[in-house]
Amino acid sequence: AVERTLSIIKPDAVAKSVIGKILARFEQAGLNVVATKMLHLSEELAGGFYAEHKERPFYNDLVAFMTSGPVVVSVLEGENAVALNRELMGATNPKEAAEGTIRADFAETIDENAVHGSDSAASAEREVAYFFEDSEICPRTR
Ligand code: CMP
Repeated sequence: AVERTLSIIKPDAVAKSVIGKILARFEQAGLNVVATKMLHLSEELAGGFYAEHKERPFYNDLVAFMTSGPVVVSVLEGENAVALNRELMGATNPKEAAEGTIRADFAETIDENAVHGSDSAASAEREVAYFFEDSEICPRTR
């Protein structure tokens, strides 16, 4: 089925100037960018986004990293978008990510792992709505 998923190009990848290379991978795999924006997350916005990790030992470092520089937040649309995006990203830990995946190619550590992608259809719905109004999403007309 055609799905939407949320993608974040994290501060490490923005700093490396690989925004275009990462978006190109999504497009080459058949995922359409139907919304996108750059923003520098506040602690409140980053903390709210990762609220489910609040009790995890890495939470404070995660929020500090995600607020350390600008990010690019996008909605990707396509057949099986949630799983396909996760396949393109590779494992959370870049050291375990399959060859040719975004994290294998552009990230070094689990804390600074270049991209985030929704992990389920339910998270995707919540995460897309967290960053985008319906009116900001622009489905293809041609
Ligand atoms: P992300 O998909 O953005 O979701 C939460 C992030 O926490 C994750 O990517 C990692 O960058 C980071 N993180 C740091 N340590 C861990 C860990 N042990 N398990 C999962 N995520 C971690």
